[in-house]
Amino acid sequence: MSMQFDLSGRRILVVGASSGVGLETGRIASAAGARVAFAARREDRVREAAAAAPGEAIGLRCDVCDADACRGAIEAALEAFGGLDALVYATGMAPLTLLTDATQEQWRNVFDTNVIGASLVTAAALPALQASHGRAVYISSYSVRQPLPALGLYRVSKVALDGLIESWRIEHPDVDFTRAILGNTMDTEFAQNWSEEETAEAARVWVERNLFPAANLMPVRAAAEALVAVLATEGYVDDIAIMPRTRDGSPFAEHESLKTG
Ligand SMILES: NC(=O)c1ccc[n+]([C@@H]2O[C@H](COP(=O)([O-])OP(=O)(O)OC[C@H]3O[C@@H](n4cnc5c(N)ncnc54)[C@H](OP(=O)(O)O)[C@@H]3O)[C@@H](O)[C@H]2O)c1
Repeated sequence: MSMQFDLSGRRILVVGASSGVGLETGRIASAAGARVAFAARREDRVREAAAAAPGEAIGLRCDVCDADACRGAIEAALEAFGGLDALVYATGMAPLTLLTDATQEQWRNVFDTNVIGASLVTAAALPALQASHGRAVYISSYSVRQPLPALGLYRVSKVALDGLIESWRIEHPDVDFTRAILGNTMDTEFAQNWSEEETAEAARVWVERNLFPAANLMPVRAAAEALVAVLATEGYVDDIAIMPRTRDGSPFAEHESLKTG
């Protein structure tokens, strides 16, 4: 059974909406009556998502590593909807690599995508969010609480994202900035580029060192519904953590299960 939300007429831009949590958030928001702009690099995917959405929707190509593209996506959303009530920054990427092996290019790519892009998109959207007394929601990660070997670049970028959100809050108290920590989520492309071998090795170490006490995965819908609840509430949600429910059994009994994320 899905949850019911009312987002009638609300204008929402989801960046990172071509797959996973962002796509599902856009879909549920659309079903709840919002006007949704789906944005990401894969234009075919975001256009498909908009065409399949139950409500009024558009698909926008946006590479958050390109400042002009960030501004362009906001302009296009404003042109289509005449304003913006919420921004969801679901964009993220995570190379699986030990710090000893990480290249400067990987570091830069992770920071461009997970941190700097978030700030560029926010800056471009800010006047519209101020005008609507709107909100911006960013997806952080459980890894900020629990560092994991081979996910250092990712974790450091999410810690920086958390700092970025605090800095936006202090500069602009007239907009509500939400940090949504997320636990392991299924049916996304998060681990798509991880090799089978490296995934198995990383998972072995995580399990062996008991770094993943509650390592179940939650359906992408569960994560997206919680985000849409944040969009729908009258209240200001500063921080939430959306985690898989715990089950009996040992964590990551199947190393392979990581690759479903
Ligand atoms: N899955 C998990 O277990 C998990 C756990 C904790 C936190 N998270 C976080 O949840 C968020 C959503 O991730 P997901 O799990 O749904 O993974 P996903 O399916 O890989 O989604 C990532 C999204 O980011 C977009 N993206 C990546 N680089 C981009 C760029 N340069 N410009 C614009 N868009 C870009 C991708 O679209 P394009 O490739 O088309 O650009 C895609 O739409 C991320 O912030 C991730 O860090 C996920």
